[in-house]
Amino acid sequence: MREAMLRAELGDDVFGEDPTVIALERRLSTLFGKEAGMFCPSGTMANQIAVNIHTRPGDEVICDEGAHIYRYEGGGTMATSGCSVKLLETDRGRFTAEQVEASINAREAQWLANTSLVNIENTCNRGGGAVWDLKEVDRIATVCRKHGLALHMDGARIFNALATTGEHPESWGEWFDTISICLSKGLGAPVGSVLIGTADMIARARRVRKRLGGGMRQRGILPQLDFTRWITTWNG
Ligand SMILES: Cc1ncc(COP(=O)(O)O)c(C=O)c1O
Repeated sequence: MREAMLRAELGDDVFGEDPTVIALERRLSTLFGKEAGMFCPSGTMANQIAVNIHTRPGDEVICDEGAHIYRYEGGGTMATSGCSVKLLETDRGRFTAEQVEASINAREAQWLANTSLVNIENTCNRGGGAVWDLKEVDRIATVCRKHGLALHMDGARIFNALATTGEHPESWGEWFDTISICLSKGLGAPVGSVLIGTADMIARARRVRKRLGGGMRQRGILPQLDFTRWITTWNG
């Protein structure tokens, strides 16, 4: 990592001109079949930006009662985005499409909060590292599309999940609007997360990141993984 710091080509990342950051964002977004990616200083910021771009103040987010976005992000879902949460009782963090469907507030009931986002955490921190079944994610994504809800994955440890199941990242990427991926957990880099999604979502996310003070200049200097080495597993 320290050698990579020495070698890193730098530019101003707020202007989108740091080649090292661009390469990292492109690498991860491509791996999951997404259009774009954005580096964030922490997983918390990546998740909170995702919540912010998928919701409006007064909306409601559906998630596990132990979800990191609810319990461990300083109340950000409520404070930064002004959302309420519908907490689900789950099997170690994993819930079902039926639970999601039953938790969506009827659009015509203007006295209820507007449900706009579902959050899945994989692996589940409070669930002791429980791994989701992709078939259930597929069912949940179908419910989300039917009701016009966004689906975000807090993939802080998604590579731990993929290492367990042997699935390709792209098979996960297709179901989610956005995914946050921590570089500083199972992957072993000391700093950072990347949020991936469509080009439009990431463009909106960049504005929110700047607003929150997460726009950094010569970001490429931060210690990082040699991605060309470890991602070869999924390159075939
Ligand atoms: C599931 C999950 N999401 C997000 C985060 C936040 O990461 P960070 O500590 O980089 O803010 C964590 C941290 O432990 C986590 O376990």
